[in-house]
Amino acid sequence: MNFYILTLFPEMVENGLNTSITGRAIANGHISVKAINIRDFSGNKHGKVDDYPYGGGAGMVMQAAPIYDAYQHILASTDKKPRVVYLTPQGKVFNQDMAKDFATEEDLVLLCGHYEGIDERVLELIVTDYVSIGDYVLTGGELPAMVMVDAISRMVPGVLSNEDSAATESFSDNLLEYPQYTRPDEFMGMKVPEVLLSGHHANIEKWRKEQSHARTLERRPDLLKKNKD
Ligand code: ADE
Repeated sequence: MNFYILTLFPEMVENGLNTSITGRAIANGHISVKAINIRDFSGNKHGKVDDYPYGGGAGMVMQAAPIYDAYQHILASTDKKPRVVYLTPQGKVFNQDMAKDFATEEDLVLLCGHYEGIDERVLELIVTDYVSIGDYVLTGGELPAMVMVDAISRMVPGVLSNEDSAATESFSDNLLEYPQYTRPDEFMGMKVPEVLLSGHHANIEKWRKEQSHARTLERRPDLLKKNKD
């Protein structure tokens, strides 16, 4: 799967995603991440890509033309028109089902805004999906884009090793992960639950299921309600 990130800070997304599991997925070709610097399409020697808002008001607005031209540049390397996500607090709140859905795309464009926003006309022309990563306001769309690339990538076949894969299931049935322990079997006087040392696989599985339910009920009861819907 190929991610194209339209941004004013290409080094931020490239450095961040070239690390850990996404970095490994890039290295072995399961995903690619291309950060496109919107400033390269400014059309002026100062690299200026923003201007004052019509009607007045605070802050600057990102201009339509550089974003549109950067998008056209991406189209030259994709077979068909890709979905274009604009990261904004005004979008639909991102979740695991959306990550799975986006992971079926061959190409995905992520548009990162800055300043007071982006000229509405280019959004109308190119954006297919408006996505927020939560009800708070960040200074730009780069961190949200990186969150999306991470969550989507781990749903792309081959990105997670078999060992990583078990953890994939943790949210798929809207239940939180059960507690985990590793050596030593006693730490600060706290013992690992006996059942985990028993080697009795059926009992261990039953205990983990109970823990998942209890933990979800205590920490995220809203998820249990979702299961009933
Ligand atoms: N840009 C600024 N805040 C954001 C958020 N919460 N989600 C997505 N994009 C954003």
